[in-house]
Amino acid sequence: MSNDEFPTDRPAVVTCGLPYANGDLHIGHLRGYIGADAFNRTLETLGQTSAYVCGSDMHGTPVAVNAEKEGVDPEDFALEWHHQYEETFPKFNVDFDNYGHTHDETNVETTQEIVRTLDDEGYIYEKEIQVAYDPDADQYLPDRYVEGTCPYCGEKARGDECDEGCQRHLEPGEVEDPTSTITGNPAEYRERTHKFFEVSEFADYLTEFLDGLEGTSNARNQPRQWIEDGLQDWCITRDMDWGIDYPNGNDEGGDDLVLYVWVDAPIEYISSTKQYTDRVGADEYDWEHVWREDGDIVHFIGRDIIQHHAIFWPAMLEGADYNAPRGIAATGFITINGKGLSTSRNRAIWAKEYLEEGFHPDLLRYYLMTTGGLQQDVDFSWEAFQEKVNGELVGTVGNFWYRSLLFAYRNYEGTPETEVSEDVHARIEGAIDDLRDAANDYSLRGVGQAATELAQFGNEYIQRNEPWKLTDDDPEQAAQVIRDCVQIAKAVGVLLEPIAPDKAQLLWEQLGEDGAVADTNLEAALETPPRHFEEPGELFDKIEDERVDDLTAKLEARVDEASDDGDEDETESDDTGADEATDMADTDDLEPLLEDRIGFDEFQDLDIRVGQIEAADGIEGADDLARLEVDIGFETRQVVAGIKQLHDLEELPGEKCILLANMEPAELFGVESNGMILAAGDDADLLTTHGDAEIGEKVQ
Ligand code: MF3
Ligand code: ZN
Repeated sequence: MSNDEFPTDRPAVVTCGLPYANGDLHIGHLRGYIGADAFNRTLETLGQTSAYVCGSDMHGTPVAVNAEKEGVDPEDFALEWHHQYEETFPKFNVDFDNYGHTHDETNVETTQEIVRTLDDEGYIYEKEIQVAYDPDADQYLPDRYVEGTCPYCGEKARGDECDEGCQRHLEPGEVEDPTSTITGNPAEYRERTHKFFEVSEFADYLTEFLDGLEGTSNARNQPRQWIEDGLQDWCITRDMDWGIDYPNGNDEGGDDLVLYVWVDAPIEYISSTKQYTDRVGADEYDWEHVWREDGDIVHFIGRDIIQHHAIFWPAMLEGADYNAPRGIAATGFITINGKGLSTSRNRAIWAKEYLEEGFHPDLLRYYLMTTGGLQQDVDFSWEAFQEKVNGELVGTVGNFWYRSLLFAYRNYEGTPETEVSEDVHARIEGAIDDLRDAANDYSLRGVGQAATELAQFGNEYIQRNEPWKLTDDDPEQAAQVIRDCVQIAKAVGVLLEPIAPDKAQLLWEQLGEDGAVADTNLEAALETPPRHFEEPGELFDKIEDERVDDLTAKLEARVDEASDDGDEDETESDDTGADEATDMADTDDLEPLLEDRIGFDEFQDLDIRVGQIEAADGIEGADDLARLEVDIGFETRQVVAGIKQLHDLEELPGEKCILLANMEPAELFGVESNGMILAAGDDADLLTTHGDAEIGEKVQ
């Protein structure tokens, strides 16, 4: 597939990982759905035909286990959550073109058709495997019905994922020392026949696929390692009742098995697109063009499910002759006041709660989209939220909108009758380019910044030209400045729409424009606003300090209360999707200490030196890699480090750093890396010295 720039003349589909229909939505979920929504809106603003589809993930043990806890039928249980999600998402301006669910007819049909094709093409085979079994409960124990030890890293793991350790997907039978989560008893392994999808056959295809894949670098790079380590075939059936039946005739085996939830869940992306076409007609939007020909498919997901989307899913699509994804954007997690989000400890900002507090959804959208890049973990605190809102939305955007429209209204009853100046025209065009570049970089922060920076320019422009001083002495110049500002205000509205759709619409109406700003495209940014409009109102309210203090105290009290409730929280599993990986590190959000000790000799093998950064620049095509030149006394080393999005590269030269000098050289994106810079944590906090250690000195 050729990756020409967005907007393309092909239809696009934007998706977000389906939420398991098993619990309340919180801010960790919202980040992804808002991100994909903003991306879809950005494509539309760029003039591309695009649809945003999703649905509830109804099957699998995450749903079955929770339904069982409440003693209800999994279908009823999941449907209830599904209906809640359908109601909740629009309240955050998450505007799906279609929102289905994995248990609906379309998805059952599409799933069975795809699995049948894979079977017909010879990609599915049967194998006897060991499946955990609980003799007391007299039942097999798929996935979350069993816990044990990860065979790869030794951490406590669930039946199908090492959620507390190395994050690997685990195949049935892999987890060691299995215990049943139903009875808590040790489980035994019993032989069963299951169906396997030959993922290993797709290694070459997937390597090529990853070469062309766009999106965040974690989604493009991590899977390469998994392929190099060797792909295992994938067990796609489970001993359960709840799910989609394996599509076999009676006696071919598999008739008492259902498909693994990870088979039918991503297929809902296709089914949901089909439903959209069914509704609007293929002339308006053709699902087949997208999925079977050459549409632009973009998946937004949490970074814990990269393997499913960058390995299993494209292999399935290729095997069944569907189109491959163009981009995968894998987002980081949300922490709350510096600690892992935990639903069982009530350390979360719930979707409902946010709305009940009376905050406008666009404020959260702006905060989540412009705080940190997509891949980074974002720490939510009410203080940081207040700072964003008061600083950028109230102080920059709102202030500029209100000032310019009020001045225009009072002096001209609307837009002064003159042309926009050339400079301002060019500046708006620059902002449009920024938006387009940001979309092509899958950077929603960039999208938000294109708008905010333009508003910032507008504020400076008013300040510099002081139109209030000109109205008497130089009325023509005054009219020019205000004309320019009204245009900038309109352009900011058009550019901000993907992130803050309601607020942009209000501005639109204040300008006396008709219709919806969401239905316009970039050209609107440069079109003249109506000659007359009414007196404007302020679009954003400041959040007061006392409010933030109250909210913070409330959150802390709630977390304390939940922690006092006893230990049961520790064992209760949180089945709410993207928060899981942060849940586990709940106490401190730290990686566990390694048990194995090393000797001093082994430490001596590491040649660690004090260095000084001489130059730092980005690497083309690699979102987060930087090329550094580091002086280590004897020589200057070129190293590649994953810190580009985390540091202001211009500020690095002159900084001291710590470098592992005898790291084997490697090549990354065509650039040789000769050493490794040491850094701490997800934010890549660079290690340094605090005394006068000289450049080249050994760390010991
Ligand atoms: N429900 C899954 C989760 O929360 C995500 C499913 S994404 C899909 O982890 F690709 F399968 F749709
Ligand atoms: Zn592990």
